[in-house]
Amino acid sequence: MTTREWRIGDLDQIAAIEAESFSDPWTRRMLADSFLSDRFTGVLLEEEGSIVAYGGMSVVCDEAEIELVAVSEMFRRCGRGTKIINDLLELASARGVKRVFLEVRVSNAPAQILYLKSGFRGLYCRTRYYPDGEDAVVMVKVLS
Ligand SMILES: CC(C)(COP(=O)(O)OP(=O)(O)OC[C@H]1O[C@@H](n2cnc3c(N)ncnc32)[C@H](O)[C@@H]1OP(=O)(O)O)[C@@H](O)C(=O)NCCC(=O)NCCS
Repeated sequence: MTTREWRIGDLDQIAAIEAESFSDPWTRRMLADSFLSDRFTGVLLEEEGSIVAYGGMSVVCDEAEIELVAVSEMFRRCGRGTKIINDLLELASARGVKRVFLEVRVSNAPAQILYLKSGFRGLYCRTRYYPDGEDAVVMVKVLS
């Protein structure tokens, strides 16, 4: 599995996976705006010409925040989520990042397990963080 960076032409497929994966997905416009930020890096996995997984993060100084991770439903539980996280961590490390943060819904056990297995640990909860009132768990991984 080899990831590559997002291109403008990928946005429709990424937006479709966002829509199938989240109750509050990033819109195509939000995804497009990521190209305007030199802090943002998006990576994706493509298989037989179709995008099956992607992730995105913003880097500011020595801290990064993973803002997006999703795997198309049919392709889950085969290591693709782990691959996306590992590649974002490698890119962050190469840019001198020391700490990587992310937020995850308290109900999202699959993602929390993936993050714990990737070396993240829970820091604290943000109460009623999401538009529907659900709490977020803030997680961090310290890079060596
Ligand atoms: C969370 C998500 C990205 C995981 O992607 P994935 O490709 O299935 O992840 P992996 O195959 O690399 O899984 C790694 C480990 O995480 C855990 N895991 C992943 N999905 C799980 C599930 N549904 N139930 C329990 N554990 C799960 C397992 O321990 C798994 O290892 P294993 O398969 O060897 O047991 C995927 O479920 C997804 O896209 N969900 C919807 C979007 C989302 O919630 N994104 C995260 C937002 S914070």
